Amino acid sequence: SQYNVAIIVGSLRKDSFNRKLADALVKLAPPGFSFKHIEIGDLPLYNQDDDGAQSEQVLRLKSDISASQALLFLTPEYNRSIPGVLKNALDHGSRPYGQSVWGGKPGAVLGVSVGATGTALAQQHLRNVLAYLDVPLLGQPEMFIQAKEGLFDEHGGIGPASLGFFQGWMQRYTDWVRKHAIHA
Ligand code: FNR
Repeated sequence: SQYNVAIIVGSLRKDSFNRKLADALVKLAPPGFSFKHIEIGDLPLYNQDDDGAQSEQVLRLKSDISASQALLFLTPEYNRSIPGVLKNALDHGSRPYGQSVWGGKPGAVLGVSVGATGTALAQQHLRNVLAYLDVPLLGQPEMFIQAKEGLFDEHGGIGPASLGFFQGWMQRYTDWVRKHAIHA
């Protein structure tokens, strides 16, 4: 079967390390998996008053997530938590009450930061939110990545020193998706 994976990057920055990491990871995926970047930068700020008339951008987000069988989150750490833009997208997709698009889609959380803690605290916050949203999350290996020289090669792939580690992660992630995806 074919699995469509929705990639949600918590950074809107053009040269985002997290976006770069997402693009490098996609190159390691086995056949049968396709990936789509989900746009979250143009979503309005969530306002519960709009639940009855969600904007075009919100409906697009919800239909993109509904059309996917799995989720892949790559988040920066902003002040020891997740960026507001990411939380905003999660909130939009969870509403109106009872019509969340997140539930039951297997997912994983990774992140890269310039700091030595490698987004560990942001990821823990994100896991907390996703647990409530009923997203079955891959537990191991944890992916707390520090942006260092050599993380990426000159073609935008994963550099040789980390390649085996990321290949191992991709194996675990795709096994997890095959095991938990509902409609593939
Ligand atoms: C940061 N950064 C950061 N890094 C970190 O390891 N822990 C943190 O708490 C923070 N806090 C923080 C707040 C804000 C508002 C900004 C803009 C940045 C630095 C962060 O790791 C760095 O900017 C990364 O490059 C962000 O990821 P992208 O945009 O490259 O994907």
